Amino acid sequence: MRILVTGAAGMLGHDVRRVGERAGHELILVDLPELDITDASAVEAFYERERPDATINCAAWTDVDGAESNEEGARAVNADGAGNLARAAARMGTPLLHISTDYVFSGVAPLDAHGGPRPYVESDPTGPRSVYGETKLAGEQQVLAASKDHTVVRTAWLYGVDGRNFVDTMLRLAGEREAVQVVDDQIGSPTWSGHLAPAVVGLVERGVSGLVHLTGAGSVSWNGFAQEIFRQAEVDCRVEAVSSEQMARPAPRPAWSAMESERDDVIPMPDWRDGLAGYLAARVGIGPAGP
Ligand SMILES: NC(=O)c1ccc[n+]([C@@H]2O[C@H](COP(=O)([O-])OP(=O)(O)OC[C@H]3O[C@@H](n4cnc5c(N)ncnc54)[C@H](OP(=O)(O)O)[C@@H]3O)[C@@H](O)[C@H]2O)c1
Repeated sequence: MRILVTGAAGMLGHDVRRVGERAGHELILVDLPELDITDASAVEAFYERERPDATINCAAWTDVDGAESNEEGARAVNADGAGNLARAAARMGTPLLHISTDYVFSGVAPLDAHGGPRPYVESDPTGPRSVYGETKLAGEQQVLAASKDHTVVRTAWLYGVDGRNFVDTMLRLAGEREAVQVVDDQIGSPTWSGHLAPAVVGLVERGVSGLVHLTGAGSVSWNGFAQEIFRQAEVDCRVEAVSSEQMARPAPRPAWSAMESERDDVIPMPDWRDGLAGYLAARVGIGPAGP
């Protein structure tokens, strides 16, 4: 397939490129400045010229805290930029897969039949609490309204070899201190982009459309994630628990954002601990998604 990858210079974009090339697809790789997805007429002209068979949109405004003070900028990319691509792809009769986030949820855990918290599934109601989450939800709506062949993949707690991320931050801090303080009141599903990228390309190849949840399987707190990072990396560093209130940031984070898919046409991703193991191998250049 001839696949357009927007945001190709980003963290996920790099892994989508690796997977797409390995699978033998012809890729059109773009990012700023060659294609600004907020420019509707440039997007339209690009599709007329390049005529991709499918699109994977990895482009986004991902500065969660910065979005709180620049809603217009975040909305232009995450909502209208995604919509521009989705409408142009639909006019050509081709599918687009767009990436969204757990931040579309409120963070109040849905309950299972026994009254315990359960992962969010696709049919659960949204309720973003940050500007970033609101603009990403608006993007989902524009994409799904443009064509029934389009796909929105919600993922969470993403990390990979081509972006700044939590795992690297923890390993760097462990080299500088005896202890780190990490919140233990936010639970989610860490996701290695080296696992997400093949899952995403697989959805495009199989023509799966609509709303899809794709994260590392299982869930953990950031604090538990840090402990597992140090355990797997065999690093000696204490992980102390703090609350989100103590670590206040401009944008609120969902307290609960574990996700899973309720769809039987979606292949579940590996456990989040396996994703971490894959990433730790890849970052030293021995894994399939190594530099
Ligand atoms: N990272 C996470 O924890 C996480 C969690 C859940 C979901 N997601 C979603 O996953 C997707 C990929 O995230 P990521 O972490 O790979 O993001 P990333 O590394 O920030 O990559 C996004 C790319 O989009 C580009 N971009 C920004 N504005 C653009 C525009 N107007 N036109 C074209 N390209 C533009 C960025 O360029 P510049 O760098 O020059 O701005 C960057 O290269 C995003 O949709 C994100 O919302 C991420």
